[in-house]
Amino acid sequence: AKVQSHEFVVQETPVKRLCNTHNIITVNGQYPGPTIEVNEGDTLEIKVTNKAQYNLTIHWHGVRQIRTAWSDGPEFITQCPLKPGASYTYRFTIQGQEGTLWWHAHSSWLRATVYGGLVIRPREGTPYPFTKPKRESLLLLGEWWNANPMDVIKEATRTGGAPNVSDTFTINGQPGDFQKCSSKDTTVVPIDSGETNLIRVVNAALNQQLFFTIANHKFTVVGADASYVKPFTTSVLMLGPGQTTDVLITGDQPPARYYIAARAYASAQGAQFDNTTTTAILEYKTAPCPAKGAPVKTLQATLPAYNDTVTATAFTRSFRSAKKVSLPTDVDENLFITVGLGLQNCPPNANKAQNCQGPNGTRFTASMNNASFVLPSTVSILQAHKQGIPGVFTKDFPVAPPVKFDYTGNVSRSLWQPERGTRVYPLKYGARVQIVLQGTSIVTGENHPIHLHGYDFYILAEGFGNFNPKTDTAKFNLVDPPLRNTASVPVNGWTVIRFVADNPGVWIMHCHLDVHIGWGLATAFLVEDGVGELESLEEVPADFPVC
Ligand code: C2O
Repeated sequence: AKVQSHEFVVQETPVKRLCNTHNIITVNGQYPGPTIEVNEGDTLEIKVTNKAQYNLTIHWHGVRQIRTAWSDGPEFITQCPLKPGASYTYRFTIQGQEGTLWWHAHSSWLRATVYGGLVIRPREGTPYPFTKPKRESLLLLGEWWNANPMDVIKEATRTGGAPNVSDTFTINGQPGDFQKCSSKDTTVVPIDSGETNLIRVVNAALNQQLFFTIANHKFTVVGADASYVKPFTTSVLMLGPGQTTDVLITGDQPPARYYIAARAYASAQGAQFDNTTTTAILEYKTAPCPAKGAPVKTLQATLPAYNDTVTATAFTRSFRSAKKVSLPTDVDENLFITVGLGLQNCPPNANKAQNCQGPNGTRFTASMNNASFVLPSTVSILQAHKQGIPGVFTKDFPVAPPVKFDYTGNVSRSLWQPERGTRVYPLKYGARVQIVLQGTSIVTGENHPIHLHGYDFYILAEGFGNFNPKTDTAKFNLVDPPLRNTASVPVNGWTVIRFVADNPGVWIMHCHLDVHIGWGLATAFLVEDGVGELESLEEVPADFPVC
């Protein structure tokens, strides 16, 4: 295993998309940012220097950060943000994870443009658990706003309404052939007849689940969220924001150019969403050249309808762990957590016309168990915990909803006025934790990609309606459940996850639709140190940023 050093300079960079040039925030002038490629066991030292005008942090999405919570990155959870001009070196080791992860800014909406891939190959000398691919490609699915995304969220926060949707989706930063002024820069993925290649797909979009397909080709799914899965074939992927999927694809079609396409899977009925399709091209090296002046023919890809829950559900339920699982058979903590939206009555001192532009003069909010999460602003929770700074958070996150009702039925919102606060839930080192994540239909049912930092968790089961402990526990997969860091909780449904709290630190769990984080769809687990030296958090780094 090696130690790899990188420098990330966060800066403003002019970028042209959809016929217009804007300054966006980038890393090293690249959009998307640089790809980090490591072998399992390697240590990364990434010096981030903030030359932009915003405070920010970088999060290494899915990296377990065992004993290195100081390097996890979510602002005000594990660290203070880097102020303009500041630097901080994130140091961590990739342990026991192989496949595809990614990194992104974890401050407000900066991750709209500040993100990149993290490719983890097996240790030197260790093969993939499948035939060695001829080529590998990384496809980062993203969203592009013509406006500054930071202004979009600022405006939505002011009005209390929903933020504007993006102007296009992108693949490796490119909108593709069907969007204005974009076709000459469309991303091209090479393949040759007969070869089998690995394609790593990351949903880096802010606010949309995405379907993904390639015309006339089938995928063999081999991994997700940096864990191998039992291979299965499909022609469509569905990824929630934050999720990754590794697929093998074989060049078994006539040499030509085939569209790769992605579009929203918007399960919430009536929700505002970006309905454009972004494309890239799978190009056979041996594709015949078109006659001079003739257009290059590219075979069209067919995506499921934006509300095709049947396809999305069949896909998410196909995952099985490839490795033998180390699932705790018993649990110490059995939590039931609702995840969903809410509407906050217009605060008495607010200007109704300007600050309460949500439905019926309200403000949008979101919560877990009716607790709407508020980030601290003067110090991170991790520092406050380690240094005993009072008044930053409380340890009373409710592990059951305050009232019980038909969560996925027609709910009166008077039952549900979320309470704001920085409420975390303490876990003993080594606790075996099970969480039923129950979606609600308050305001609207929606598919919530729930992401937990610091851990991979097993997904035991998912279903529609209200979770019923009497009948649904029989559906748990205790044999080969997939290991993931982000679970798509189905619209008006539930998902059950399980993990062992063996990584000390403060770990945020949140919806990876960024609009929902700002509304409070989050909480954090405070995992106490264990008794052994290898069970406690490393020392605070010397260059740790201060608020
Ligand atoms: Cu990918 Cu808390 O984030």
